[in-house]
Amino acid sequence: MCGIIGTLLAEGSVVEGILEGLRLLEYRGYDSAGVAVLDKKGISIRRKAGRIEHLAAALAGGALSGAKAGIGHTRWATHGAPSDTNAHPHTDTEGRVAIVHNGIFENYAELRAELSTAGVVFKSETDTEVLAHLIGRELARGVELGAAVLHSLRRVKGYYAVAVLSQDHDQPRLFCARSGPPLAVAVTKTGAYLASDVLALIPHTREIVFIEDGDVAELEIGKVTVRNLDGKVIDRKARRVEWDPEEAGKGTYPHYMLKEIHEQPDVLARTAFDRIREAKGDVEFDTAGWDDTELKTIERVEIMACGTALHAGYIARYLIEGLARVPVECDYASEFRYRDPVLAGNTMALAISQSGETADTLAALRLAKELGAHTAAICNVNGSTLVREAQRVILTNAGPEIGVASTKAFVAQITAAYLLALRIGRARGTISKEQGQELVDELRVLRPKMEQLLGETAVKAVRGIAERHQNAKGFLFLGRGINFPVALEGALKLKEISYVHAEGYAAGEMKHGPIALIEPSMSIVALNAIGPLADKMRSNIEQVRARGGKVILIGSDEGSVQLADEHVKVPECSEWLSPILNVIPLQLLSYSIALLKGCDIDKPRNLAKSVTVE
Ligand code: G6P
Repeated sequence: MCGIIGTLLAEGSVVEGILEGLRLLEYRGYDSAGVAVLDKKGISIRRKAGRIEHLAAALAGGALSGAKAGIGHTRWATHGAPSDTNAHPHTDTEGRVAIVHNGIFENYAELRAELSTAGVVFKSETDTEVLAHLIGRELARGVELGAAVLHSLRRVKGYYAVAVLSQDHDQPRLFCARSGPPLAVAVTKTGAYLASDVLALIPHTREIVFIEDGDVAELEIGKVTVRNLDGKVIDRKARRVEWDPEEAGKGTYPHYMLKEIHEQPDVLARTAFDRIREAKGDVEFDTAGWDDTELKTIERVEIMACGTALHAGYIARYLIEGLARVPVECDYASEFRYRDPVLAGNTMALAISQSGETADTLAALRLAKELGAHTAAICNVNGSTLVREAQRVILTNAGPEIGVASTKAFVAQITAAYLLALRIGRARGTISKEQGQELVDELRVLRPKMEQLLGETAVKAVRGIAERHQNAKGFLFLGRGINFPVALEGALKLKEISYVHAEGYAAGEMKHGPIALIEPSMSIVALNAIGPLADKMRSNIEQVRARGGKVILIGSDEGSVQLADEHVKVPECSEWLSPILNVIPLQLLSYSIALLKGCDIDKPRNLAKSVTVE
């Protein structure tokens, strides 16, 4: 979950660019940061606990400036507290090698004991330092640098992406290797770059080489050589990534989260509109595997995901079952992978992930494949591990999402799931051409409704609710049917960024427990859309009110609006798409409460955007 970066330049100084890159990777982890550069004097390091800006302050005034090779790191601690000494980069005893690492060396205790017995004195509590010492000891035995790196990597076990900086005959050499977490490299005529995320590479070029598990790459100006751990050269082609570097900025918004919430109407359009085939009442994906013949035989869909993507998965279950009439299961990826699942019949295993790098999601999909399922992915990052591994892919086209709390990716995932349900339904004949045309029309008219919810009046209404409820003892989010997962997502958003306790519940289940929590200091957010469950939801709202609960209603059902103490009226739309509208006020509510509480909205404590460890 850490971010790693490395740069070689023909001319100029690397440190400023590494800091810039680290700022782009900071969403991956932000409890400490560090840089190592290499110049004629050898390796120099600066490391600081806290945010990148602490490191930037330590580098102010030109410290480390002038070096043409360097690596950097932003950390989400696994082994050892977030401190200056545990911050990366780490070096060997002689200071000849510097390492940055994302992941875990699972056999580090064993290696540390072996190295300690051999006289190595460790300077940090990290697992990372063992690799620096292993390489250092090979160099001390006279082994050539490239061979020392390969030999040492063969000794570490686990889940890692690393960058190694050293020099040979006065020339800087930069390596990186991967066994699990994401890693990509890019070269230009004047530089060579490696990073955990393409975001930090696209300011240099959009031609990206994705490093695969078991690869060890050596970067040179204008050139990358990829080998396997046995030293055999492997051909890895560059792929073009279409993201615009500008999209990675905050624009005029104070926070990425707010910017990303406001991008959602465009995201809907980008995910859906080019794929719609109105005349056929259908959609078309530009990737393989979605034709009638391939979809007709599917007997079951098994969805796996984590966090917000899991909530999109629950919504996908309602969509695929409701529209395409195929049975769907949806589970936490971390549970699926360890519950010894049974996959009957012709199953499509569908992983949903913004990053395409979440460790549990990838492992769950790999397991499903082993169990004989066809694999599919809804994913936002082209070139990610998930996109490379899944047999069928729907890209969500939401653009880079930087705010740790996911917003626009969620809307894009629901949109993609709606398209998928429509496609499966059309392929299997459960949706007629006319019904398909209606479903497509509903999607087309959604965008202005989303814009309305992001307009001044609605935003102001949410802000008012936030002001009145910011000190609530807790929040209970209630929804039914396809809006039940939206209640889960509303609660998750609030927990993530405002640190307020919140629970999402299926409203029909409320009387089996959470009803005991209801009292005036508890804020109840009820979701209701127009549809067959609207009456049932109204009864649940009555039950809350009868016990003194204050209800904030989000939705378009007028009857519920009348019952509620406060409300945000959501424009009417098809119930199938109501999650996309209903989630917007919930996102704004958690944003507004976090703002009032002075929380760090884009970098909530203890979280990381891309969870590449178990
Ligand atoms: C982390 C993030 C969440 C995200 C989840 C799954 O927990 O903080 O916002 O929903 O990972 O990430 P993915 O990239 O697989 O969608």
